Formats: sequence, structure tokens, C-alpha cells
Amino acid sequence: APLRSLNTFHVDATAPWLLQLDDPTALPEALALPVLAGQPLLVLGSGSNVLLAGDPEGVVLSFNNRGIEILEHHADHALVRAGAGTPWHGLVMWSLEQGLSGLENLALIPGTVGAAPIQNIGAYGAQVGEFVHVVEAWDRQANAIVRLDAEQCAFGYRDSVFKREPGRWLIMAVELRLPLLHELRLDYAGIREELAAMGVAHPEARDVAEAVIAIRRRKLPDPDVLGNAGSFFKNPQLPLEQIETLRHEWPALPVFPGEREGQGKVSAAWLIEQCGWKGAREGDAGVSPHHALVLVNHGQATGAQLLALARRIADSVRERFAVVIEPEPLLIGAQW
Ligand code: EPU
Repeated sequence: APLRSLNTFHVDATAPWLLQLDDPTALPEALALPVLAGQPLLVLGSGSNVLLAGDPEGVVLSFNNRGIEILEHHADHALVRAGAGTPWHGLVMWSLEQGLSGLENLALIPGTVGAAPIQNIGAYGAQVGEFVHVVEAWDRQANAIVRLDAEQCAFGYRDSVFKREPGRWLIMAVELRLPLLHELRLDYAGIREELAAMGVAHPEARDVAEAVIAIRRRKLPDPDVLGNAGSFFKNPQLPLEQIETLRHEWPALPVFPGEREGQGKVSAAWLIEQCGWKGAREGDAGVSPHHALVLVNHGQATGAQLLALARRIADSVRERFAVVIEPEPLLIGAQW
């Protein structure tokens, strides 16, 4: 089966089997089918965070179960459940319409609800892991449906147990704990300025979502128009001493708080731009002219060509700054 429409880079790849399930409870039965038994499995939501550098082996599975429901109402929060196939941005906007907050900074992130916990999607100072109540998944080791709480999901920066053990977990649904009211996060660069430009003096969660949508539209290419998978590299986490040394030589290097004590995150986009890659193009594989962290497919680039470009970018950053940058999307059919 062709996978071009199942990945937002829009690269051509083929899977021997493609299984699209509207009802994830049919999964045990499907996995027991002789053609599927013992085969490697790859779950693709809308494929917004993968680079198909080669053809996947085995079965590509996608869950099409959409649907959002409020499970419980409480005085200060609600528990919301969404099927893995629900588009993420749809869930964000729905929750805001219900008067629930928390997800406003995560507006307009491409992909499905089921994919969101895998890389612990994050933007503008928020990450989905903070709001996860339970992730319901099929565990291929236990051959059973399991319900993992946030701690068991082991969320980190663009990381989770699902990302660390690929092939083990098939996410079927996600339950979120969303506050009715919470402190808005406006500190991330650009949000206050955007709200001011919108003429909003006393922002509510929905205004923050509108601001984030406007910023993202300006900076990040729409995958439907220009194939891409968002940030291609993670912002590297470095010891504070190393950051100080770098800043001594390059005072403009943007630095963000790290996830761990004694560490900070530096802007991979800035490092890449300094190496001259912003807007570069090799054949149909390129770097967005608006954001140096975003690799783009101008039309007919192959996954292998995009990967080769990514490697050249990472090599040049290492040579110039002695900093190692690593891909954020899942690589299929190749090792980094
Ligand atoms: N910058 C450059 N050149 C560029 C772009 C950015 O020098 O071409 C510098 C600017 O100084 C800018 C800073 O980098 O102020 C940070 O840029 P931006 O706010 O766009 O954030 P980012 O660190 O590049 C991260 C996430 C994005 C997320 C934004 C906003 C990662 C790997 N990426 O990008 O997530 O939307 O912050 O919160 O952490 C994604 O994961 O796919 C993604 C798009």
C-alpha cells in the first residue's frame, strides 16, 4: 500500500500491509490473523512526526477512531477522553469551546491525539504530558489493553515510554485532565506581542490559542502545502558550563530552561541558521526559508534524500559548534 498520503513529508514509501481500524477494540482479533501474526507493526496516525527513509517492514496500522467525550465533570476540572484517530487541533479547539483550558498553547500542532503522547508534543511553554490522565494502549508484550498514568508514561522533552519502546505500544485513546481555569502561559517569546497586536488586553485561553495559531501560521509551513514534519531536530540539552562557553563566543545564541538541573536547552534553529542552511535546497529536499529547524519536501524528495540533508546539517553544526543535534521525528527504514 502506498504511504504518501499517510506522512506529512509526503514522501513515497510502500508498506506490504496497511490496516486501518475504525474500532481499536477489533485489534486483538486483527493481530491474531495469520497474515499479521508475528509481523513488525508500525502505527501511523497522520504521520506528522515520521521520516520514511525506507519502506517499513510488516504491517502499517492506523486507527481512525475519532470522538471526544467528557467522562467526568469536577468543580475545577474535567476528564476528557478522545480516540487515537481524532485530529489533535480539533480536540484543542473543542476543549476551549467547552470552557476547558490547558491546551491553548498547543493549538495547530499537526497530527492525531494518539500520536501526541509519543513525542510528548510541546509548544510555547506547554507539553501534553502535563495534562495526561491516562493513555490507553495495546501492549504487545502483555498482549492486553493497558492504562498508563502520566508517571508510567515517563514523559520528558519530546520523549516518553512510547518513544523509547517503539513497536511495543499501540495507543488507542487518551484521557486528559483539563482545568476549568488555570494560569495562562504567556511568557514564551512572541505570545504577549501577538496578543497586543490583536488588541487583547485581558486574554482568555481562547485568545492565547488564536495568538499561537497566528504565530505558527507565520513561521511553520502548512504540511498540506509543503511537506514537512515540524521541527526536524530537538533543541540540544547541554550542561550550563558548555552553554556559558558557547555564549562567550556567540552571545546571541538563544537559551531556554533545561528539563534537568544544571542543564539548559539551546536553539537548534539558531545553530543551523548560522551554518547557512536556512532556505537551502538540494533537489527537492530543503530547509524552510522561514524556520531553520524545519526540513521541507518541495515535491519529489525521497526520505533518503531528506535524511542525507539532515545528516549534512547535523555534521556542520557539530563541526562549527561542537554540539550534537538529533532528529525529533521517528526514522523508519534507517538509523540515525
Ligand atoms: N531561530 C533562529 N532561526 C530560525 C528560527 C528560530 O535563529 O530560523 C531562533 C530565534 O531566536 C527564536 C528561537 O530560535 O527566538 C526559538 O524559535 P521558536 O520559537 O520557533 O522555537 P524552536 O525552539 O525553534 C520549539 C519546538 C517547536 C515549537 C516551538 C514553540 C522543538 C524541537 N521545537 O521550536 O515544536 O512549536 O518551540 O514552542 O522543541 C515541533 O516539535 O515539531 C515543533 C514545531
